[in-house]
Amino acid sequence: MEIKNDLILRAARGENIERYPVWLMRQAGRILPEYRAVRNSLSGFKELVETPKLAAEVTIQPVDILDVDAAIIFSDILVIPEAMGLTYEMVEKKGPYFPKTIKSLDDFASHAQTDFDVNDRLGYVMEAIQITKKELSGRVPLIGFAGAPWTIFCYMIEGQGSKTFSKARKVLYTNPKLAHDLLQRITDVTVRYLKAQIKAGADMVQVFDSWAGILGHEQYLTFGLEYIKQITSAITEVPVTVFSKGAYAAIEDIAQIPCNTIGLDWNMNIGQARDIVKETRTLQGNLDPCALYASHKEVEALTKNMLETFESKRHIVNLGHGVYPDIDPEKVKTFIKTVKSYEL
Ligand code: CP3
Repeated sequence: MEIKNDLILRAARGENIERYPVWLMRQAGRILPEYRAVRNSLSGFKELVETPKLAAEVTIQPVDILDVDAAIIFSDILVIPEAMGLTYEMVEKKGPYFPKTIKSLDDFASHAQTDFDVNDRLGYVMEAIQITKKELSGRVPLIGFAGAPWTIFCYMIEGQGSKTFSKARKVLYTNPKLAHDLLQRITDVTVRYLKAQIKAGADMVQVFDSWAGILGHEQYLTFGLEYIKQITSAITEVPVTVFSKGAYAAIEDIAQIPCNTIGLDWNMNIGQARDIVKETRTLQGNLDPCALYASHKEVEALTKNMLETFESKRHIVNLGHGVYPDIDPEKVKTFIKTVKSYEL
């Protein structure tokens, strides 16, 4: 089906655009009361993720309510470890928890499986994509996604969130073979998973490397970017975005791997990043998510300030990380309206 508003796809490919496209990371869920209503009718987060009809409904809510230029499928990066045999729980107000973790190569047979069909174990995601595409009926593109191998590795080793992920980083020094073997396994499954999402209807995909910033530069190249490169080299069907949060030193290296768009967090300098990538890549970001706590007038001014720093049309507007749960949706609307009324 033809997509009516394909601005974000054109921006990703470096084609001409009439205005900057805008969406928000974590726009599905988190801030909308309409999401809470659907979520509270169920046993929890996982039931929503695994119920395609409802996952599609909350995917489309931000398109209807916030008027964003893209939808992102409602799911989580942690469905990959789960499909590989490492089940997670989503603990209310705390976050993900894995009762078991990977400790040695012996754990791979049961908890880091690769020998399965992604459509068997993650069919609910593909079904949610199909329903969403049908219900969007070409209004805006649908973004598929996966976690980057390094970020998924962090959760599989650590078993929960952490400020430093020092258990995961320790393995890189004490057992690099286990690290590489596990990263390779995650990579293989992720390539198959993203291809299945694209086959189901995803119009572009984003790889989230939320914990890229905790690795030194050399280590990020070896244990992070090497595996992302395998993924982005394999995905040739649709535009690909790489968001390596906090990997300031690696922008130059990310611009060397096949991908269309590079995500920037709010600590990064758009002008500097543009000097590095020139016109070879689209940039995405990067307003501080906290800027949306400011007054409407300030949100408008801060958004305009950011837009003024763009020296190129190759830009997709977003926050520098996911929108925070207690942000007033009206502030998000101000952010979006400001971008949409900005003349190029
Ligand atoms: O962008 C979207 O709106 C699509 C849906 C989406 C979710 N998680 C839904 C979700 C996406 C793209 C993610 C990605 C994700 N999940 C990342 C990478 C992006 C980032 O923020 O850095 C990470 C690290 C996770 C793992 C995860 N999932 C954590 C740490 C948590 C708990 C804290 C939190 O973010 O709320 C989750 C839970 C989660 N994933 C929720 C949602 C809507 C909240 C669960 C609820 O409704 O109770």
